[in-house]
Amino acid sequence: MIKKETAALLVKQINKELHSGYLYMEFANYYEEKNLPGFAHWYVKQAGEEYEHAMKIRHFLIEAGEKVTLDAIAKPEKDFADTKAPLLAGLKHEQYITASINAIYEKALELKDHLTAEFLRWFIKEQGEEETNAQLIIDKYEMVGGTGTAIYLLDKELGQR
Ligand SMILES: [Fe+2]
Ligand SMILES: [Fe+2]
Repeated sequence: MIKKETAALLVKQINKELHSGYLYMEFANYYEEKNLPGFAHWYVKQAGEEYEHAMKIRHFLIEAGEKVTLDAIAKPEKDFADTKAPLLAGLKHEQYITASINAIYEKALELKDHLTAEFLRWFIKEQGEEETNAQLIIDKYEMVGGTGTAIYLLDKELGQR
């Protein structure tokens, strides 16, 4: 048995993961418009991962005998000032998700819900990687200066994901 309070937070986390996927899909749509198919591809992949995260939590809740009811997914942002803006927004979003996962983990520990705490350890590690990856694209973008041939090559690299 897991605790009702942590179960409720995990149901909310499903929405946050699906919203993350929505956000990244919209980033991809934006990059398609900017003729950067590699950037778009990278975020389509990322969106797929977020869907997997949502499904992982859903599976855990179902296995634990909890009910899962989905909520509406908020409309994602697409009005970006330049092609670097989604990258920054992506990092900020991952930091927000990390804080959300950590808060559920801390609640699980507080309630001695060790099964949920154990389950969340994978997500804590995953969030570390998510933040690293988000920072890495920003670093690369800044390194190439965001113009001309360099951005073309970076787009090619991101298309390899
Ligand atoms: Fe995620
Ligand atoms: Fe993520």
